[in-house]
Amino acid sequence: MKVEERPDPILAAGQVLVRTKAAGLNFADILARQGLYPDGPPKPCVMGYEVAGVIESAGEGVDASLMGKSVIAMTRFNGQAELVAVSAEQVFEKPDSVTFEAAAAIPVNYLTAWVLLVTMGGLQAHEAVLIHNAGGGVGLAALDIARQIGARTFGTASPSKHDFLKQRGLDHAIDYRNQDWLPVLMELTDGRGVELVIDPLGGASWKKSYRALRSTGRMGVFGMSVASASGIKGKVRALKAVLQMPRFNPLGMMNRNKGVFGLNLGHMWKEGEKVRGWTQAIMRGVSEGWIRPHVDRAFRFDEIADAHRYLEERRNIGKVVLIP
Ligand SMILES: NC(=O)c1ccc[n+]([C@@H]2O[C@H](COP(=O)([O-])OP(=O)(O)OC[C@H]3O[C@@H](n4cnc5c(N)ncnc54)[C@H](OP(=O)(O)O)[C@@H]3O)[C@@H](O)[C@H]2O)c1
Repeated sequence: MKVEERPDPILAAGQVLVRTKAAGLNFADILARQGLYPDGPPKPCVMGYEVAGVIESAGEGVDASLMGKSVIAMTRFNGQAELVAVSAEQVFEKPDSVTFEAAAAIPVNYLTAWVLLVTMGGLQAHEAVLIHNAGGGVGLAALDIARQIGARTFGTASPSKHDFLKQRGLDHAIDYRNQDWLPVLMELTDGRGVELVIDPLGGASWKKSYRALRSTGRMGVFGMSVASASGIKGKVRALKAVLQMPRFNPLGMMNRNKGVFGLNLGHMWKEGEKVRGWTQAIMRGVSEGWIRPHVDRAFRFDEIADAHRYLEERRNIGKVVLIP
């Protein structure tokens, strides 16, 4: 990975040019670099799904009053750049209460968590949720939303992240690196399990998470972190994960009163209206103070390799952002 000079983007009608102040780094960027992300653009490429910055110019048909506004935007790649062209419909005004760095931590993490918990997961106040990798970007976002709903929260994470998670309001932090988390969860829930599990690990983990559901429980699957590794090792891990994946039987789900759903935010581009609605709800949460984007570290663009390494080594709590 390296920083390169490219011509400035040319604006199409309906687009705005955003001068990036901070761009989000996501686990998908790591998987794309490792060659494990089917949606990734062919290399060489510029990755990046989200930016926070200032609108510098506006294309034909765009409301000129947007000029100079501080905004947050979702991008379909090309976000990790100084200048980003995006549809004016994809930008949202940045609340003054958050920095550009914190703003760049909002779109992917919070939209993913919102769809998993609220839209598809239907989490209720009287229910319990298990958030896997609770200390990651999506994990912390899910915790904010679950707490606002009023649900009981369980989270798996490396033990070094537990103190922070408890400070953020997680009810029960479970070490899943040094022990089997399922019996611990069952003991904490008097043998019942939880109503919702969100699982980005994939492979055999989905089997176990399904077992953690009590009646009326739902499992949201949204990632394949277990495959993460460079070179041939990653390909082998991905294959192993696919082989170990559960195959769900509709009759079995019917008789157990359980459900399974999947989410890929990157395949939501044709649902602009829905995404805008969710984003507006999240922005209300920011102004009300219960959406608390947490940036662990900001790396300069030319430190991109260090930033990738930091995520791969699981050192982040919450978000890692890149600054030009
Ligand atoms: N489907 C979608 O639309 C969508 C959208 C966003 C994210 N995702 C997926 O959600 C997952 C989390 O994303 P994120 O942006 O929140 O990532 P993140 O901030 O980097 O957090 C990931 C956390 O997962 C844990 N982890 C488990 N296995 C790991 C591995 N092999 N390598 C590194 N860390 C590992 C680590 O926590 P511990 O130290 O506690 O183990 C790590 O801190 C990823 O699988 C990502 O692809 C999916």
